[in-house]
Amino acid sequence: MQTVTTIAGVRACVRAWRQAGERIAFVPTMGNLHAGHISLMELARQGHDRFIASIFVNPMQFGPNEDFAHYPRTPARDAQMLQDAGCDVMFMPDVAEMYGEGATAPTRIDVPELTTTLCGEFRPGHFEGVATVVAKLFNIVLPDTAVFGEKDFQQLAVIRRMVADLCFPVTVVGAPTVREADGLAMSSRNQYLTAEERRIAPGIHRALLAATAAIRSGAADVAAIERSGAASLAAHGMQVDYFAVRRRVDLTHPGAGDRELVVLAAARIGKARLIDNLQVDRP
Ligand code: PAF
Repeated sequence: MQTVTTIAGVRACVRAWRQAGERIAFVPTMGNLHAGHISLMELARQGHDRFIASIFVNPMQFGPNEDFAHYPRTPARDAQMLQDAGCDVMFMPDVAEMYGEGATAPTRIDVPELTTTLCGEFRPGHFEGVATVVAKLFNIVLPDTAVFGEKDFQQLAVIRRMVADLCFPVTVVGAPTVREADGLAMSSRNQYLTAEERRIAPGIHRALLAATAAIRSGAADVAAIERSGAASLAAHGMQVDYFAVRRRVDLTHPGAGDRELVVLAAARIGKARLIDNLQVDRP
């Protein structure tokens, strides 16, 4: 595996692979890799000759009071994990390489219909930062396929929409959420939890399971399902940002005839803000 820190370096690799007619898969990450990321890599390898992973903690997607400075950075361990996963190139640029020296107001990509709700309401500017960096990375790597985790369901929806609207020639693949044995969705931010907080954190998954079971058994009162989910998280001592039932296709509120739904939750436990979701079909 090669470690590359410059845009020009990635482009040189990609040019050579393209000339050899090879297909390229890409997994963008912010590093601090865990088994959830490795499952994305395994999916990325299928049907491709090469795969690139990026490790870049993107300042543009963090709000002023968020955890950019403290976000866990473990580059040596990440490199070993990527090598073991069969990665060809680990792209690890610094902020100046991605945004230019001292850039204060870079071009931004806004996907307005999907970003004012759910996490967008609580993290203004977050999805603009995500869409912008992913667009930049796509333009650098020029992958055939890019893989993202379904745990960040709204992020995946934003990226799919950006790819469609801006005609990126990239196939976006969503990978199922990987969970700990007690159901907690794997996330780098789980490290912020104290032992006691870690004990209550799987309550998010349990509340999502209860909501999807209710929907599957025909419960029609979406607002009641949302209230009950939020109350269950609050009863565990979590500060609930939202517990919401939405249409999978566009994250809007479901009407009576909508069958393909997703239940999404975000809650703060101590220093950690955790998100999770489960997809469910109405009977
Ligand atoms: O999901 C993440 O790790 C990040 O939001 C991403 C997609 C790598 C963009 O910085």
